[in-house]
Amino acid sequence: MFEPRDAPYPELKKTHTMAHTGRPWTDYKPPPAAPVWAAIEGLGRYYILVAALDLDIFDTLQRLGPSTVECVAAELDVPINHLRSLLDAVVALDLLDQFTDIYELNDTAERYLVSNGPATMAELIAVAPGPHENWTRLADTVRNGRPGSPIEDDPTAFYVPLVEGTFTTMFRCATRADLKIRYSAMRSPRILDLGAGGAPWGIALLNGCPEGTAVINDLPGVIEVADRKTTEHGVADRCEFRPGDFHTVEIEPESYDIVVLGHVCRTEGEAGAQHLIERAFAALKPEGRLILADYFTDIERKFNPHAVIMGATMMASTEKGFCFTHQQFSDWLRTTGFGALRLIEPIGFQQSFVATKPR
Ligand SMILES: C[S@@+](CC[C@H](N)C(=O)[O-])C[C@H]1O[C@@H](n2cnc3c(N)ncnc32)[C@H](O)[C@@H]1O
Repeated sequence: MFEPRDAPYPELKKTHTMAHTGRPWTDYKPPPAAPVWAAIEGLGRYYILVAALDLDIFDTLQRLGPSTVECVAAELDVPINHLRSLLDAVVALDLLDQFTDIYELNDTAERYLVSNGPATMAELIAVAPGPHENWTRLADTVRNGRPGSPIEDDPTAFYVPLVEGTFTTMFRCATRADLKIRYSAMRSPRILDLGAGGAPWGIALLNGCPEGTAVINDLPGVIEVADRKTTEHGVADRCEFRPGDFHTVEIEPESYDIVVLGHVCRTEGEAGAQHLIERAFAALKPEGRLILADYFTDIERKFNPHAVIMGATMMASTEKGFCFTHQQFSDWLRTTGFGALRLIEPIGFQQSFVATKPR
């Protein structure tokens, strides 16, 4: 029986082509182990960042400026050797700079990791992967077709910190979306934001349309975040808060100029996602527009690793969640009756379909 193995005489293999058995290049040049190490280190990389945030490393370096490890250790009251090991690891992750033993924030840390950074993700990092224990039981989830602790068991506990953490990114995205779809050109639109979270889309739309009004929906317990954020942004007086399940909550037909489904479809499964699209269609006035934001995989489910891993994240911690392809969403939108489909990317890695209900 043929046993594939490293070739002792690589030059003899030059005539190999795929017409021959096997994949000839792998037997004279073994593939690197780097992808395997990348997976192993993934766990450590994540918890190094979680620990750095937990210890307040980024905010402390922002306050102190460029510092030695001794100085940071004294400020945080932790042992020097342990802190140096952690700081060096954060440098290895490209999330801090170190030069001649002085540690300082780099541009990435200043933008994304200090708590008052312009695009801070500091609060998101601990919650973004979902309940951590679900990752240690992923094989069981695949075996059983269900996670051990789905977030649906206690949605408020999961979503409140999540939507606090994602707000800055989604608000930037929703605000910049105006450059692509000019929602601010509408005079006094009526807006429906389903599963609004902190209402980043609702708030951006109301900011752009000073005479607009919005119905903001989310689950009881989570909708308080929207209440607080809309108050902070000075638009709460133009919002009606409508708590409830977005699959069943009452929605007036043909009443809205814009409906937003912002990162809500991927937890709902195929039928649930299509149901939300149908509800949005029914809610829109003719010529009204749906904005559907999500992480979309490409048609072969392999060229956008960020969305593919997000799909696995959904599988790991939700009852029905998976990511879907652009093709699936565009098919569902067209089947429901939408036309004039556009895909926009207002900021990196944040895509939305914009689709119009015909006249
Ligand atoms: C990933 S967050 C997205 C929040 C916001 N739309 C955004 O784009 O940032 C999903 C939101 O959907 C809400 N949600 C989940 N299931 C829901 C349901 N059945 N009915 C209403 N809201 C729901 C969650 O509470 C959460 O606020």
